[in-house]
Amino acid sequence: MTRNDDLEPTVARRTAIAAAGLGLVAGCSTYGGAASPPPAAQPPKAAGGTELGAAADVPVGGGKVFADQQVVVTQPEAGTFAAFSAICTHQGCTVDAVTGGTINCPCHGSKFKIADGLVANGPAAQPLEKKTVKVTGGKIVLT
Ligand code: FES
Repeated sequence: MTRNDDLEPTVARRTAIAAAGLGLVAGCSTYGGAASPPPAAQPPKAAGGTELGAAADVPVGGGKVFADQQVVVTQPEAGTFAAFSAICTHQGCTVDAVTGGTINCPCHGSKFKIADGLVANGPAAQPLEKKTVKVTGGKIVLT
């Protein structure tokens, strides 16, 4: 008897865990499947894209990292903007600075040219992925 008494709480716990797991699966389906995050998790969207910030915050000859959106925007020449993924192509760190004409990764020292995202200094071997932005009403919009 003592042996069966010891097993009952374990079985009940397993049943409760299984039921909780089914509840989680059912909860995911209310958001349209596991691949779609709930609407609150979506980044804010401006008309025609995601607004990143003021164009005036991106210096000429430099750039700005928008870490939340994982995008870096540069302005190699006055009025000309470029944008790239902020994910370093070496091992996936997020670039954290734009100085001296390059976009810089803090992890192993890779540097990428602000005009085209090409590698200026390794160990990265591939350029940063290009993104598309436009300036509307003084705001940078990721399209
Ligand atoms: S992850 Fe950027 S240099 Fe290694």
